[in-house]
Amino acid sequence: MPNYILLLGGPGAGKGTQAQYLCQHFGLPQVASGDLFRDNLKRETELGKLARQYMNRGALVPDDLTIQMIRERLSQPDAKAGALLDGFPRTTPQAEALDSLLAEFGGKVDAVLYVKVREGVLLERLSGRWTCKGAQQHTYHLLFNPPKIAGRCDVDGAALFQRPDDTPEVQAERIQVFFRQTAPLIEFYARRGQLIEIGGERPITEVTAALIAAAAAATRK
Ligand code: AP5
Ligand code: MG
Repeated sequence: MPNYILLLGGPGAGKGTQAQYLCQHFGLPQVASGDLFRDNLKRETELGKLARQYMNRGALVPDDLTIQMIRERLSQPDAKAGALLDGFPRTTPQAEALDSLLAEFGGKVDAVLYVKVREGVLLERLSGRWTCKGAQQHTYHLLFNPPKIAGRCDVDGAALFQRPDDTPEVQAERIQVFFRQTAPLIEFYARRGQLIEIGGERPITEVTAALIAAAAAATRK
């Protein structure tokens, strides 16, 4: 049976940072809705053009577009054995659509890892973040996780850039959108007994160890 693990957390909580380690450990592909939208933006697809107007102001892309994109991604062969979902679902309709979708694939949500980080710390992280231009969009932080060579990704050597939605105004809006539209999912999954809360205000390696231990225990059940 496939394994589906969700990573839930505010903007800057460290979802992308942690997803790469969890994927390596569990041998699952990373399915990150934000990365998929940015890839569409880069390729100037119709979806990318539609998504840009929402992303640039820190709003969520409409559910129907987002769900369709995730359906297509999860239908690809590398996701047949499961996936680590980073940033999806983000609304209750998305969570309900995911249940139906996974049921079609003979699976279900196996674990929901909520990386809890306070608002002030989220802002501190977003403001020092630099993202790799390469396909995997690795992230760095000027103070907390600097690259070995300034301005270059350690993994593939690509140039680093600051995301257009990482301006102070848009960062603040994304955080508000998280608490308004996505935080209800914490309760949604807690009621189903699937929520695992992990304190995210620790060094990256400590958070990784806690997430791996929690996901391993949940997927063994
Ligand atoms: P998305 O790309 O998902 O952005 P986000 O949720 O705002 O989250 P981020 O990617 O900004 O943060 P992260 O948690 O991945 O943190 P990171 O690891 O980089 O979405 C972008 C947009 O796309 C949305 O606004 C929306 O428009 C659209 N979208 C996406 N999904 C959607 C959906 N499902 N529905 C509708 N619209 C959707 O880390 C941040 C920084 O902190 C880095 O610099 C990192 O080095 C540092 N850091 C990480 N961990 C630590 C640590 N433990 N200690 C110190 N520093 C750390
Ligand atoms: Mg991310």
